[in-house]
Amino acid sequence: MIKTYKIGVIGGDGIGPEIIREGVKVLKSVSEVCDFKLEFIKYDFGGERYLKTGETLPDSAIEEFKKLDAIYLGAVGHPDVPPGVLEKGILLKIRFELDQYINLRPVKLYPGVECPLKNKTPEDIDYVVVRENTEGLYCGIGGNFKKGTSDEIATQLSVNTRKGVERCIRYAFELAKKRNKKKSLTVVDKANVLTYEGDLWRRTATEVSKYYPDIKLDFAFVDATCMWMVKNPEWFDVIVTNNMFGDIITDLGAITQGGLGIAAGGNINPNGVSMFEPIHGSAPKYAGKNIACPLATISAGGMMLEVLGESKASQIIEKAIIKSLSEGYIKSLEAGKMGMTTSQVGDLIVKFVKEIK
Ligand code: IPM
Ligand code: MN
Repeated sequence: MIKTYKIGVIGGDGIGPEIIREGVKVLKSVSEVCDFKLEFIKYDFGGERYLKTGETLPDSAIEEFKKLDAIYLGAVGHPDVPPGVLEKGILLKIRFELDQYINLRPVKLYPGVECPLKNKTPEDIDYVVVRENTEGLYCGIGGNFKKGTSDEIATQLSVNTRKGVERCIRYAFELAKKRNKKKSLTVVDKANVLTYEGDLWRRTATEVSKYYPDIKLDFAFVDATCMWMVKNPEWFDVIVTNNMFGDIITDLGAITQGGLGIAAGGNINPNGVSMFEPIHGSAPKYAGKNIACPLATISAGGMMLEVLGESKASQIIEKAIIKSLSEGYIKSLEAGKMGMTTSQVGDLIVKFVKEIK
């Protein structure tokens, strides 16, 4: 029997709907080639809907999402909506409510992509950041006091639970084992200042490492990590880190792999419903122009298929992306400089998917 997967699609704001359209196009074509079915269920959550109705994401939507196989998201963020409303009300709500505790962000330089790092090649830049995705500074605990006065206080608490840290570290070890490359795991923290959370992360990693004698465990401070990601990216295989540091270093990672136009991420609940998205934002200034690069979104679609168990389809998408870049079809990953439109990139990848099979 042919397998059918139910995919919730949230185009969102800005360039979101345009890039997600290309992603869906590619997913459809690869499903035909690989003999499975995808049923797409569209949702209009985002800035426009919020401005019209005042609603970000109702609890009923979360209940619906729980029945899906995966969620495919473009981007949220609208210039007319204050910062935080859509991010917390939609994106973080989905990550938290569906307990997508892993944010998986590969940093991989593809052949043919211009890298801003001198003398670095695809062999040097190929690692994965495992970002904890439901705790840390993102938990939303804190508040303000005497707001608007000269005595104002604002606090924002970093929450790290043993359970949350351990499941993330275990996932990272498993990934290092599965990748079977440098067999190394680097815990990135700021244990020289954030001593309480640093201690919990390091102790947990050391304990879990006993179950993974073949994986070399390392610790690195986040500031130094930023330097090494530029100077010696070839040192890394799998990095595991907290929510905030993971957010920051993956933008840095993205630029070393050619820019946000190519960087994809998965918000993963290994026992539940996961969500896949480009790591860039809604880029309102490019919206509606058909000039944004859809490759990050297409690549996120590939990650989705891998997690759903359709490895072959996922590999076909990656091969098609590599072909489009290494053979010079796509000139640049920057919006407006690709040498073709957003939809032409989608069409090109579809063509290669059919050729590669
Ligand atoms: C990301 C984004 C989000 C985050 C924002 C939009 C809330 O920057 O996915 O990296 O900080 O996680
Ligand atoms: Mn980010």
